[in-house]
Amino acid sequence: MNQITPPPRIEIIPATAPFSEGQRSWLNGFLAGMLSLDGSTPLSPGQNDAVLSPAGDGDDGEAPWHDQTMPIADRMKLAEGRPLRRRMMAAMAQQDCGQCGYNCNDYSDAIVSKAEPRLNLCVPGGKETARMLKTLNEELEKSPAASLETGSEKETWHIDFDLSGCGLDYVVGDSFGIFASNDLGHVDQIIALLGASHTTEVRGKTLRDVLRDDVSLAPAPDTLFELISFITGGAQREKARALAQGEDPDGDAATLDVMAALQKFSGVRPHPEAFVEALEPLQPRLYSISSSHNATPGKLSLTVDCVRYVVGKRKRLGLASTFLAERIKPGDELKVYVQKAHGFALPQDPKTPIIMIGPGTGVAPFRAFLLDRKATGAPGKNWLFFGHQRSDCDFFYSDELNAMKTSGLLTRMSLAWSRDGDKKFYVQDRMREVGRELWTWLAEGANIYICGDAKRMAKDVERALVDIVAQFGARSTDEAVRFVAELKKKGRFQQDVY
Ligand SMILES: Cc1cc2nc3c(=O)[nH]c(=O)nc-3n(C[C@H](O)[C@H](O)[C@H](O)COP(=O)(O)OP(=O)(O)OC[C@H]3O[C@@H](n4cnc5c(N)ncnc54)[C@H](O)[C@@H]3O)c2cc1C
Ligand SMILES: NC(=O)c1ccc[n+]([C@@H]2O[C@H](COP(=O)([O-])OP(=O)(O)OC[C@H]3O[C@@H](n4cnc5c(N)ncnc54)[C@H](OP(=O)(O)O)[C@@H]3O)[C@@H](O)[C@H]2O)c1
Repeated sequence: MNQITPPPRIEIIPATAPFSEGQRSWLNGFLAGMLSLDGSTPLSPGQNDAVLSPAGDGDDGEAPWHDQTMPIADRMKLAEGRPLRRRMMAAMAQQDCGQCGYNCNDYSDAIVSKAEPRLNLCVPGGKETARMLKTLNEELEKSPAASLETGSEKETWHIDFDLSGCGLDYVVGDSFGIFASNDLGHVDQIIALLGASHTTEVRGKTLRDVLRDDVSLAPAPDTLFELISFITGGAQREKARALAQGEDPDGDAATLDVMAALQKFSGVRPHPEAFVEALEPLQPRLYSISSSHNATPGKLSLTVDCVRYVVGKRKRLGLASTFLAERIKPGDELKVYVQKAHGFALPQDPKTPIIMIGPGTGVAPFRAFLLDRKATGAPGKNWLFFGHQRSDCDFFYSDELNAMKTSGLLTRMSLAWSRDGDKKFYVQDRMREVGRELWTWLAEGANIYICGDAKRMAKDVERALVDIVAQFGARSTDEAVRFVAELKKKGRFQQDVY
């Protein structure tokens, strides 16, 4: 691992982001306004979210109604024209009192995402809030897509990094390692559960800094349950001991992150030093690089799908994806490294045709391949299979890819939208449709690449490839399996799946 000093400066450049032209021009204007501010002014996560998420709903993240002294009518006026989730937030009493189990922002998000069906939880808002939420919820019910507002169920970010001066270099196919830090709000909730002070010194730092930067707050490790079993008794002790041994006494083990474990054993307050010792170190996360050094020297970009989900009433955040999405701001320096790819690269001969299959964020390294081939004038033919949920909101880099198609750099582009029609339609379905041509490319010596989801997509795509080889290459299934295995052995079939 090559950790660098000084780390690169990050800048976020929506000009190359996977937005439509309209979104991009709005975002450019908005971001230009933000950047003209003093760079040292931190953006709130909400602002970042609104500015940079392509799946964003055009909201600017501001909440001018967030004033508990303001009457509901004035709050609703200020929220006019905003997305439903923001109007729902405005209907609440703005006290962030937690009586509903959320803060106002999270309660409205939970209702709109349908994770929370109850509309009467805002105690200080009383009947006024409940009535307004009911009215707004009717709007939600009328439009099945309203919960998404923009239609996309994904929140995917394009992030540009400035590597100048940090000595890092990469080639297309490499990945970028990010050392992220935990969300401070989450850290503070854990400190409150411990009944400790932020400034308690642990490992020569404050407890708050250690919990933010050094330890994982995600799955509760066995060692934490061991610690809990040492400092408690009776049934609690038995339960903690069982969990420490990988058993699941209450059927909730899979959902127990560090905070949920402290809540499960409420009242157990380990000493901060012992607590930190029981946690795992915070690990970096890898992302496929979606830029080419040959095209934009000193720059590097990533295409990141944001991991957020709800368990019970609590919003869970993927560590690094939400760090990149909402906890950094232009100009920040990050701890990063380049992970060299092993067996995932453009062919050595620039004339070799390539077939790239990358649904979702799997498109990232293929954008890099194409930009690189353009920059180096590689004459080989290029065929991209891209797929995602909906054509109108999930077509990443559409302007760029369409321009590459028009210019002839992208010889073929085959698209598959899984949720545009009544039936799922995936990249491998498109591959089967054009199996004859795909086989011809392979027979001409093309390399084939897959990037993206490892659990289902990559296996299904490989199966489709075997079927295509069997059908159009006039082989039995066994022979086709051997043919594909041979492609892999020769380095002509490469994968970057996660
Ligand atoms: C070589 C490589 C390249 C990669 N390239 C990319 C890329 O280009 N773009 C990209 O976006 N990612 C990429 N990834 C994945 C990336 O590294 C991270 O794994 C991903 O961003 C999640 O990390 P996180 O820290 O945000 O989430 P974490 O804190 O690691 O949380 C993720 C975990 O949350 C849990 N989880 C997630 N969703 C749910 C749910 N709905 N319900 C319950 N539990 C859930 C699962 O246990 C999951 O493992 C790549 C991975 C590798 C290894
Ligand atoms: N563990 C899982 O089950 C799982 C599933 C998906 C993604 N992920 C992870 O989520 C992260 C980001 O995902 P992403 O943004 O790249 O998008 P994604 O969730 O992988 O989705 C991209 C596209 O692939 C489709 N898809 C789903 N199953 C498929 C299959 N078996 N074969 C071909 N296509 C399939 C999706 O359709 P639909 O969504 O309409 O089905 C969507 O249109 C990755 O880290 C990935 O590993 C995990």
